Amino acid sequence: MSPRLFARLKTTLFLLCLVPLLSLVYGLLGDSLGANPIEALSRGLGDWTLRFLLITLLVTPLRRFTGLNWLPRLRRMLGLYTFFYALLHFMSYVWLDQFFDWAAIGKDIVKRPFITVGFASFLLLIPLAATSTNAMIKRLGGQRWRALHRAIYLIAGLAVLHYWWMVKKDITQPAIYAAVLALLLGLRVYWAVRRGGR
Ligand code: HEM
Repeated sequence: MSPRLFARLKTTLFLLCLVPLLSLVYGLLGDSLGANPIEALSRGLGDWTLRFLLITLLVTPLRRFTGLNWLPRLRRMLGLYTFFYALLHFMSYVWLDQFFDWAAIGKDIVKRPFITVGFASFLLLIPLAATSTNAMIKRLGGQRWRALHRAIYLIAGLAVLHYWWMVKKDITQPAIYAAVLALLLGLRVYWAVRRGGR
């Protein structure tokens, strides 16, 4: 793919990734998010954090299956969007749900397991976002950087657990996310075993 076409594709993807946020804000301002708009906003941001996380993990399998070797060059942006949505989701909780009551937030994190694992996955995302620059990759060295970024699977597992533990009755949605994650992880393990066997 020509550099110009790739740049255009990247810009388009960048703008597309903002659509979920814009549509949530639009819904909030237009009062069309339902009876509990704050909850709908918070949940929408949580949903999109998880979706971006899984889309980021999909890049490598998609490259292997399609042979589109430029796909990994979009991964950093998708990963940073995951962090961006996670930050907004966290901020919606801190601001709109808890009104910056840090004592109550601390208590919630300790006492409610679904918040504990959500918070853990958010905390673990921070070093990955902070080391996403070329300078940091160079500083850490490829091997150490890759080892650190393997934490993304743990983060995704915690994020699915966060959702699973949050829902009280119908677990269909978190189960679908869990199945997708298991498939993505399974593929990685399969490829690693095959590589080892050679
Ligand atoms: C990578 C990090 C995280 C991901 C992927 C994530 C994802 C999600 C998802 C998918 C939902 C359910 C949305 C739905 O019902 O459709 C959710 C709900 C929720 N999350 Fe997270 N979350 C993360 C981090 C956090 C953190 C750090 C907190 C707070 C400390 C948090 C607090 C909540 C709360 C309170 C809800 C329920 C929202 C409500 O009912 O108003 N999450 N999250």
